[in-house]
Amino acid sequence: MSLMFLHGRFLPVEEATVPFLDRGYLFGDGVYEVYRLYGGRPFARELHVDRFYASCSGISLEVPGTRQELVGILDRIEAHAPARSYIYFHLTRGPAPRLHAWPDACNPALAVMAVELGPVPETWYRRGVAVITYEDIRWARCRVKSLNLLPNCMAMSEARARGAAEVLFVNREGFVTESATASAFAVIGGYLRTAPLTFNILPGVTRHLVLESARESGLPVRESAFTLEELQEASEVFITNTPFEILPVAVIDDRPVRGPGPMTRELMRGMARRVEEETGHPAQCSVALG
Ligand SMILES: Cc1ncc(COP(=O)(O)O)c(C=O)c1O
Repeated sequence: MSLMFLHGRFLPVEEATVPFLDRGYLFGDGVYEVYRLYGGRPFARELHVDRFYASCSGISLEVPGTRQELVGILDRIEAHAPARSYIYFHLTRGPAPRLHAWPDACNPALAVMAVELGPVPETWYRRGVAVITYEDIRWARCRVKSLNLLPNCMAMSEARARGAAEVLFVNREGFVTESATASAFAVIGGYLRTAPLTFNILPGVTRHLVLESARESGLPVRESAFTLEELQEASEVFITNTPFEILPVAVIDDRPVRGPGPMTRELMRGMARRVEEETGHPAQCSVALG
């Protein structure tokens, strides 16, 4: 049985239902967060909870209860979660008459569930994945982890249809912003590059950890966006997110790029160390390091 938290109580996920008038359902009015468990132990949870509060504040949504109460609920869901899983939680503005402007008094609805992670082919880490490029048609507040994921769903469905695992979003000026579910990095001219946070992207927790680890290892880092043209010269390309950590990119729009190189591997080592230290369990990307 998979336990979840919804509308103030714990229940089996199969029994969970939402009111039709919930603004999360009608307008996507809400935000979400995802963090990972290794051997049942949470990784980087504080950073994810911080970002959850930042996302809520970005849409003027007040989190009911205290942070301690929220963490208490997360603890309980973790205790029933599969060892290899992620915790998904979201807050919608709750039920209200269907008007675009939200009412002064809302009753926000918190939901928390654990999702078991399936096996990932080792070749994804050893050789890399295929991605497609896709126009970044998202809104202008991508720092908010909003429930409105339709552009991301459209992009990922196109990727699946073309046999690719992910997407690189390209904005109107021709810059790569990020992926549909991940941050994007490339090694260009010897520098590790990724778009800065001012670039309408999500402040990825894994992105933050990777940049921290790169600086600790003395790798040359530039938080500056790169164009599709510059990407042709990249010696390494990878994407980062909570479920996959660091995933090398081997093909962009059917064109092969060089697989995981020395910087990607160094950063995977850093990630593996961090996960091991914090949870006592191996990181997934360590399959590429053996
Ligand atoms: C658009 C987008 N960018 C980046 C990320 C990576 O964020 P994190 O490393 O915190 O999982 C995600 C994760 O869901 C995402 O949806």
